[in-house]
Amino acid sequence: MTIHLAAFLIAGNAAHSQVLWRHPRSAPGGFLTLDYYKRIAQTLERGKFDLLFFADRLAVSTRFGGSHRYGVAHGDQDATRMDPLPVLGAIAAVTTHIGLGATRSTTYSQPYSLAREFSTLDHLSAGRAAWNVVTSVNQGEADNFGLRETLGHDERYDRADEFLEVTHKLWNSWDAQALLLESGSGRYADPDGVHAIDHRGTHFNVRGPLNIPASPQGGPVIIQAGSSHRGQDFAARWAEVVFGIQPDLARMQRFYQDLKGRTGKFGRQPADIKVLTALMPFVGKSKAEAEDKRAQHNAMVDPIVGLSTLSSHMNVDFSAHAPDAPIDDIQVAGMQGLFGLVKELSSEGRLTLADIGRLYAGGVLVPQVAGTAAEVADWMENIVAQQGADGFVITPAHLPEGFDDFVDLVVPELQRRGQFRLDYEGDTLRSYLR
Ligand SMILES: Cc1cc2nc3c(=O)[nH]c(=O)nc-3n(C[C@H](O)[C@H](O)[C@H](O)COP(=O)(O)O)c2cc1C
Repeated sequence: MTIHLAAFLIAGNAAHSQVLWRHPRSAPGGFLTLDYYKRIAQTLERGKFDLLFFADRLAVSTRFGGSHRYGVAHGDQDATRMDPLPVLGAIAAVTTHIGLGATRSTTYSQPYSLAREFSTLDHLSAGRAAWNVVTSVNQGEADNFGLRETLGHDERYDRADEFLEVTHKLWNSWDAQALLLESGSGRYADPDGVHAIDHRGTHFNVRGPLNIPASPQGGPVIIQAGSSHRGQDFAARWAEVVFGIQPDLARMQRFYQDLKGRTGKFGRQPADIKVLTALMPFVGKSKAEAEDKRAQHNAMVDPIVGLSTLSSHMNVDFSAHAPDAPIDDIQVAGMQGLFGLVKELSSEGRLTLADIGRLYAGGVLVPQVAGTAAEVADWMENIVAQQGADGFVITPAHLPEGFDDFVDLVVPELQRRGQFRLDYEGDTLRSYLR
């Protein structure tokens, strides 16, 4: 048994932290350069991470104040996002083991083109591709893709279910042995091993087969992060890795049990899904040094930047509400699970909208743990022992060096304790996740 580790990235100015691009230790504008991603990926591979993963969204923030002006002016979480797949193609060339995950939307993609993208990445990376399936929640995305408004919550997931059915059919449309490459006889592939899928459905009509032979993993590892009931059912049916953001152990345990409890309904086992919970570590040689690092990061937080990102996530214009307003009465169409958490935290701690903005800009409600390597490892070990998670999504405070302390100090500590692999075992990302 090993703790599983993923790294959270955005191919842009932020991660969960929206201070990231301004942090004195971040390379100014580095996120637009290949060297930056190479540096990050090689560090994570040295730390034997299962995978690195790029979140994505398909629009700058336009919700807060009804325009792009605020988010772009101040660098919120959606101010810049390059397309993750070309970035992963470049990372595949400079790494050999680490899993490579990209977010793609089932609302704004077509199954055929998406199946090709991930099949290509899986071939070129020799079996390391992963797809973070999102259904997309905000109006800015709808506006960029010709929809008058975003699809309703459950309709998004209905489309996503059919999307996954189609892509799986496409990834299976070439039998593993169908590619012959018999140069002597001139037989390229066995047509009996390549199948049209003839899918006729509510959202998609796709004939197939795919125009790419079966890839090493037979399709990417499926990642998901829905937190509503419908989102969790979707994850229980399809996901192999689920990301969660939960601020404390009790909530992590609830989420973990709830999700794993749903797998039976879909003929799957609880162990078929690895639940990874987000963590922003600040590691120091002493606790005081670690706390200084956290304080330095959080001192730069602008609550209005957080509310701009929150507006985008929840598809609500929070500039229309007073900063000291209670948020209990606000209804959202966006990330309902996450917003439920915002409301709970708000009523428990009697937080104002501005407080929520501050938390959100600092790290989207991801727990920030400051301590020595041993203290951070204790915290992680306890979460896994208490069935709060199977592992962690580590999210950085600055880049490209933001994973260095974790990899150089916490990973060896976990390894010494027998909690984490000493080296990669198996050939593919899916094999690390067993
Ligand atoms: C850890 C985490 C990462 C996520 N990453 C993305 C992302 O990159 N892009 C995106 O559009 N949505 C992302 N989401 C949103 C989810 O895909 C989902 O839409 C959201 O949690 C709402 O789910 P629900 O509708 O089931 O409540 C993420 C959510 C979480 C919790």
